[in-house]
Amino acid sequence: AQDNKSVDKRLLLICELLEKHIPYYNWVGFYFKNGDRDELKLGPYVGAPTDHTIIPFGKGICGQVAVSNQNFVVPDVKSQDNYIACSITVKAEIVVPIFIDGENIGQIDIDSNTINPFTEEDERFLEYVCKKVGKIIPVDTYIY
Ligand code: SME
Repeated sequence: AQDNKSVDKRLLLICELLEKHIPYYNWVGFYFKNGDRDELKLGPYVGAPTDHTIIPFGKGICGQVAVSNQNFVVPDVKSQDNYIACSITVKAEIVVPIFIDGENIGQIDIDSNTINPFTEEDERFLEYVCKKVGKIIPVDTYIY
């Protein structure tokens, strides 16, 4: 099986490309289900380091996506009660789940310093990215 290191390298490259080329993508990272625990663990990311390397299912925008299996677009983070702030510069967030064989195994999480920047085009594009990501994660090692 492919080792997690080379997968992580590719995931980091995706983060770098997205952050570099899309001006309103200011923090880009992946969270994955942490073994058999009901929590997410931070994977490769670019942007300001975050204290939130582990997020319990249900908590924050990320934790809610872990249980809803749906995209979550937040135009204005101030309007969310169940939100985990990583940086005071963040105004908006989008989280799109990653599926392998129909199972929600993780997500891409993007923070923006711009208010209400995300459109349906971002959702469709990130769904496409997540579909590709689901294919490069080896089934036996996708659980981090
Ligand atoms: N804001 C997220 C936490 C992760 S940071 O954005 C990197 C949330 O509410 O789940």
